[in-house]
Amino acid sequence: MRMIDLIEKKQHRQALTQDEIKWMIDQYTADVVPDYQMSAMAMAIYFNGMNEDERSALTMAMVESGDQIDLSDIEGVKVDKHSTGGVGDTTTLVLAPLVASVGVPVAKMSGRGLGHTGGTIDKLEAIPGFHVELSQQDFSELVNKNKVAVVGQSGNLTPADKKLYALRDVTGTVESIPLIASSIMSKKIASGADAIVLDVKTGAGAFMKNVEQAKELAETMVNIGKSVGRQTMAVISDMSQPLGNAIGNGLEVKEAIDTLKGQGPEDLTELCLVLGSQMAYLGGAADSLEEARTLLEANLKNGKALEVFKTFVEAQGGDASVADDPDSVLPVAAYTKEVLADQDGVVSEIIADQIGIAAMMLGAGRETKESQIDLSAGLYLHKKVGDKVSAGESIATLYSNKAISDEVGERVLTNVKLSDSATEPTLVYDIVQ
Ligand code: URA
Ligand code: CA
Repeated sequence: MRMIDLIEKKQHRQALTQDEIKWMIDQYTADVVPDYQMSAMAMAIYFNGMNEDERSALTMAMVESGDQIDLSDIEGVKVDKHSTGGVGDTTTLVLAPLVASVGVPVAKMSGRGLGHTGGTIDKLEAIPGFHVELSQQDFSELVNKNKVAVVGQSGNLTPADKKLYALRDVTGTVESIPLIASSIMSKKIASGADAIVLDVKTGAGAFMKNVEQAKELAETMVNIGKSVGRQTMAVISDMSQPLGNAIGNGLEVKEAIDTLKGQGPEDLTELCLVLGSQMAYLGGAADSLEEARTLLEANLKNGKALEVFKTFVEAQGGDASVADDPDSVLPVAAYTKEVLADQDGVVSEIIADQIGIAAMMLGAGRETKESQIDLSAGLYLHKKVGDKVSAGESIATLYSNKAISDEVGERVLTNVKLSDSATEPTLVYDIVQ
């Protein structure tokens, strides 16, 4: 086979065969097909798309480019959850223990944050002593014992995706639905889950800026999952404003604990119940989504979800007293600052990506992979869309270990839009199954 022929085929809108896609990804991973040919192919895919068979073939070729995690020594249906990325997205910290509390094994591999989006692994490291590196054997043992463990992503998972993603990033080919869908699904499939729940975000803080695009991406990923024998469902949820009130690692751990006590922000709690119901249903804990939701709601009220959280934290070396007394266990910022409203009004919009950037400037996120993050840094929104504000009232508290510049406060103030009225925000737009 010759790469030039495959590029021209896709350029002329013809479908590539499974063998051609497998050959192309293998040769690219082995550095035989050069970046310039692969970037021409990515651009041809960007413009001409891929049919369902091609998308599945591309996904599986990327899965097979590296290690595949074998979770077969964990009992039960292993369910994974993946979010396409957002600001203040604290759901995994809540969902992992919550879903485990109804008996479904959660063997979760998570990532670190980059840019304005956060990562679960960084958040967990805000708990003193918590470690995210576990051997495959310890990981499986913990999931069998406690129904939950969370680890960082292992070394050689989907190397083809790593290369291709870096190439897409610099060739204007990131925002292609077949390329995003196969990138995400290859990682989920290689990490071994039997069932996958996807949280596809839409809005200013997300890749997919509108609901139609998000729905197309969700349908594509669900079809890929099913075509390779993994039960897959997706929720399309809002990321126009940040999720919950806390943004920043330690602050989000506290928010997750509140939520596990049944005292969390309304939107975060609701999204956790929607996603958690899918996970519990796919994991076989309930016969319907409604029944699953009832089980989860009960465990938020009766303390079982919080108990599982404590067991999970302790099992991975963390200080479990964080659940009872988060303020004295979590890192405390040296500086705080209030962002005061300069007029009366109703919050009509909170621009998620801009608020994420403000949190990053305070030290909560990384600009490059090498940056150190400040686990105490971030911000707490006292107001969400629909809330009334009076002039002089605090909209947000900022936290950092370095002196807080006026610039950050101004960025928050200009991105929390006040008006005479606001339309009720939508949290869940659609469910794809
Ligand atoms: N996240 C991924 O993992 N891959 C993409 O292509 C986009 C978002
Ligand atoms: Ca949050």
